Amino acid sequence: MNDATVYLNGDFVPASEAKVSVLDRGFIFGDGVYEVIPAYGGHLLRLEHHLARLGQSLSAIRLANPLTDEEWADVLSQVVSHNEGVDQSVYLQVTRGVARRDHAFPPDTKPTVFVMSTPLTPLPPALREHGAEAITLEDIRWQYCNIKAIALLPNVLLRQQAIDTGAMEAILYRNGVVTEGAASNVFAVSDGLLLTPPKSDQLLPGITRDLVVELAHEHNIACSETALSLATLRNAEEIWLTSSTKEIVPVRTLDGNPVGEHCPGKLWHRMYGIYQDYKAAVRAGERA
Ligand code: PDD
Repeated sequence: MNDATVYLNGDFVPASEAKVSVLDRGFIFGDGVYEVIPAYGGHLLRLEHHLARLGQSLSAIRLANPLTDEEWADVLSQVVSHNEGVDQSVYLQVTRGVARRDHAFPPDTKPTVFVMSTPLTPLPPALREHGAEAITLEDIRWQYCNIKAIALLPNVLLRQQAIDTGAMEAILYRNGVVTEGAASNVFAVSDGLLLTPPKSDQLLPGITRDLVVELAHEHNIACSETALSLATLRNAEEIWLTSSTKEIVPVRTLDGNPVGEHCPGKLWHRMYGIYQDYKAAVRAGERA
């Protein structure tokens, strides 16, 4: 593994030299939040939206933002420029810092700020050509899924359960209504209409999700943010999963049953093209 340059508490250092205390509340309690931001040709996609969501996650866990948006932009772009790869996935994490173990918030503790970058690989051709398999599972997570918290044990267990059955992702539901994937948002095409669950505290407000909704409106694709029942999902013509690292993945089977008549479907092809054009504009510095 090459020794990428990371940012830790004010310093840019090789990953192998970046050290965090075992008393860090991120390690002890999972007390922190994170973001994953794609960078195309050195340009961070939707940086403003990612920083706005970071601000919301921090205020939801009652932690002051340690950096201004300008400082974040500077640190993130420095990490990108220190590392190899035309396209990168930039990970940032803020924890409540190092303190004697006590559930109560420590007084006067400085948050730990960490940023790393890994090469962002395009969607494998097999997934692009044939789609992914997904299974449905009950959403066993907590009531604040809109916070991008680093405590991801339920997501890890759910995703692994999907992987153990040979699927790529678990699509989660509560009371018969779809929330999101274990690490993605969900779209369905039903009667030609593109549907995705509305934002709530039961799902992460995905930046890719928002971009897909925005691009659908921009290109006159009928799209609605509406509650999506499991029954509608099961009868959908198309199902997509979206995330910063996977972009838009078409789903071929749900619980082993084929989704629609063809995968990828017609609308996926159209939206995928629109999304690639958007990325090209980001690369050229014409859009963010
Ligand atoms: N996860 N929902 C969950 C639970 C997620 O973990 C993610 C992304 C998304 C999609 O959000 P966005 O479009 O902003 O990436 C939805 C990231 C990529 C991760 O944990 O690696």
